[in-house]
Amino acid sequence: MAEQLVDSFGRVHRDLRISVTDRCNFRCTYCMPAEGLEWLPRDEILTFEEITRVARIMVERYGVNGIRLTGGEPTVRANLPTLVEMLAGLGTDLAMTTNGVSLPLLAADLRAAGLRRVNVSCDSLRPERFEELTRRDGLARVLDGIDAARDAGFDPVKVNCVVMRGVNDDEIADFVEFGRTKGVEVRFIEFMPLDADGIWTNNLVVGVNEILARVNEASPVEPVERTSAPASRYRFADGSGHVGIVASVSDSFCSTCDRVRLTADGQFRNCLFAVTETDVRALLRAGADDDEIAAALEASVASKWAGHQINRVNFIKPRRSMSQIGG
Ligand code: 5AD
Ligand code: SF4
Repeated sequence: MAEQLVDSFGRVHRDLRISVTDRCNFRCTYCMPAEGLEWLPRDEILTFEEITRVARIMVERYGVNGIRLTGGEPTVRANLPTLVEMLAGLGTDLAMTTNGVSLPLLAADLRAAGLRRVNVSCDSLRPERFEELTRRDGLARVLDGIDAARDAGFDPVKVNCVVMRGVNDDEIADFVEFGRTKGVEVRFIEFMPLDADGIWTNNLVVGVNEILARVNEASPVEPVERTSAPASRYRFADGSGHVGIVASVSDSFCSTCDRVRLTADGQFRNCLFAVTETDVRALLRAGADDDEIAAALEASVASKWAGHQINRVNFIKPRRSMSQIGG
């Protein structure tokens, strides 16, 4: 049997998320303080060659078949299409999660370089509220970015909406309508305790059942059979597309998780909520060979825990916020 990145619970890991920068041109209230975070110094960020080397080891040795670029905001990294081209050469599915503002400029180049799919984060369709949430007057450009992604041939384009009680949960029906008319797949995400300001409380979480009920009110849906992907997918009964719900808090999908992460500064994480990391950058820069790097990745995955404990007293919030880990 081929080598696999397998943990002690038998979960085989085939999905790699790569954060290419910790920087962002937005300041989402649940992700960053208004003044931003202290950015990593340039020389602590992995080069494109270093990123591609780690990805290649994972693809060639362990059959990793999906790569997603994240940030911070991935399009803030200079020459991103060059990295996309290098990673596209590995032949996996290749996707990106972005805030969308740079897509009017970059969508066509990214597509041409071999990016296959994009998810655009957008938590409000109301300009003033959008500005409150992101601290940037950017909704119009994000909406243009979604159009640009569709025009560039990305299919499907997905829109991620983090639902927060009393903040934007009155927009679920609007997002459903938006998805149906624009032909994009909206994914509602439960708000997770990864925010920089520590504003998260359980009361802010709108659970999957409540989201589903509101979606159904707006337009009836039926479930689509579940895969290992964290989103439960639903099909609109009238055939106008799909919608997803990511129950990251209330119904954790940890038991089928196949994801690992590489941060912008080269730390390998076996879970979004991991409290320890493996310093792959140190290995890369100390001249380690592929076997040594592979051994470190294997050891990290082998030690992965069963899952996060968000709703238990023993939950420990990771030291890094979402923008520093990569969504
Ligand atoms: N909970 C849920 N989703 C979050 N994101 C950022 N912070 C959180 C959080 N605390 C989302 C972003 C983006 C993706 C990278 O993760 O909105 O869609
Ligand atoms: Fe930037 Fe994404 Fe964090 Fe918003 S959630 S500040 S777009 S990294």
